[in-house]
Amino acid sequence: MSFFKRNIIDNISETPLINLEKINKALGTNVVVKLEKNNPGGSIKDRAAVFIIEQAEKKGFLKPGGTVIESSSGNFAISLSMIGAAKGYRVIALVDPKATETNKALMKAYGAEVITVTEQDDTGSYHKTRIKLANELARKIPGSYRPDQCFNVLSAVAHYHTTAKEIHAQTGGLIAGIACAVSTGGQIGGIAEYFGKHLPETKVICVDAYGSSIFGGPSHAYKIPGVGLGWTPRNISDVSKIDFVYRAKDESAYIAARLLCRHEGILVGVSSGAVLLAALNASKRLRNIHPIVAVLGDSGERYLDTLFNDSWLESNNIDTGVEFERLLTLAESMEAPVEAGNIDSNYRDDLISLLEVPATTITHYNMLDK
Ligand SMILES: Cc1ncc(COP(=O)(O)O)c(C=O)c1O
Repeated sequence: MSFFKRNIIDNISETPLINLEKINKALGTNVVVKLEKNNPGGSIKDRAAVFIIEQAEKKGFLKPGGTVIESSSGNFAISLSMIGAAKGYRVIALVDPKATETNKALMKAYGAEVITVTEQDDTGSYHKTRIKLANELARKIPGSYRPDQCFNVLSAVAHYHTTAKEIHAQTGGLIAGIACAVSTGGQIGGIAEYFGKHLPETKVICVDAYGSSIFGGPSHAYKIPGVGLGWTPRNISDVSKIDFVYRAKDESAYIAARLLCRHEGILVGVSSGAVLLAALNASKRLRNIHPIVAVLGDSGERYLDTLFNDSWLESNNIDTGVEFERLLTLAESMEAPVEAGNIDSNYRDDLISLLEVPATTITHYNMLDK
């Protein structure tokens, strides 16, 4: 065995699990966090990005010197930019006004070209306008490939074979549940599929944003980056495989992420604040002796201009207080989760033709093929 990694991509996965020592003691909870910021591209999106790119290479959809075009609010595009730099692909990222200056600078640092899409779609978000434009560009640029995290079910396959398997191995299966945020559904889809098959007693918990309509309901604008979508992504093969769906309020997610940093020294992003609250609430609810693993998607360093900037918070009406006691109140005041059996879906396969998604993106893949 070699003492070094073959390249930077080989260092994706195998992220640590960390106990929340102070929080668990004070709140009577049992939550451990999986720190996805330890991936080389700084987020959980490295896992899906490398898997999708390597499958496209195997299938001949992406050839040496090709162009990768993606619509991403930040993390997925950063991961692709890193992989593009390592493998020699041109990367074009379509972001929206919610993408931070830091994220855009990171993509550019890896050599990616960044296009900001400002036109909102019918849900008040930018997902559909970004995807449509990315597909238009892909038709114009020869040798281009569209990973498309919103329609590519390989994202769930990646999480089935890495995130979910890894958590199983790290804990020996002695866990009450796993909580993660949901947007393109890759994480929750892969985790639900894996644990439904291998450890069905483990509760599969996700947190969405108010204003997202992944599980139905009206859409409206919200602030939490990286969470939510205007429809149910196909990465979630069946919503009944999820046990609990929580929804986080903008302000609570920001405050919780700040509290985690101040009181445990764990610097993570906004979606992680939402996941933390869901995991704490579920831990209280389940009263299981085993921990809940909260998957924390990215690093707080990506949000120094927003989440960790008091003037930004004040101008967005988000309280800047960081008293430890607030965590319990926030966790307990979360709306009760919707439970399996009552979880609605909102699949929109019509979007495939409406947004002109390329056939090479809509791959069919058996989870167990790898
Ligand atoms: C930090 C972070 N957490 C969670 C998610 C949601 O993950 P998924 O798209 O696999 O549902 C994202 C997606 O962009 C993210 O960037």
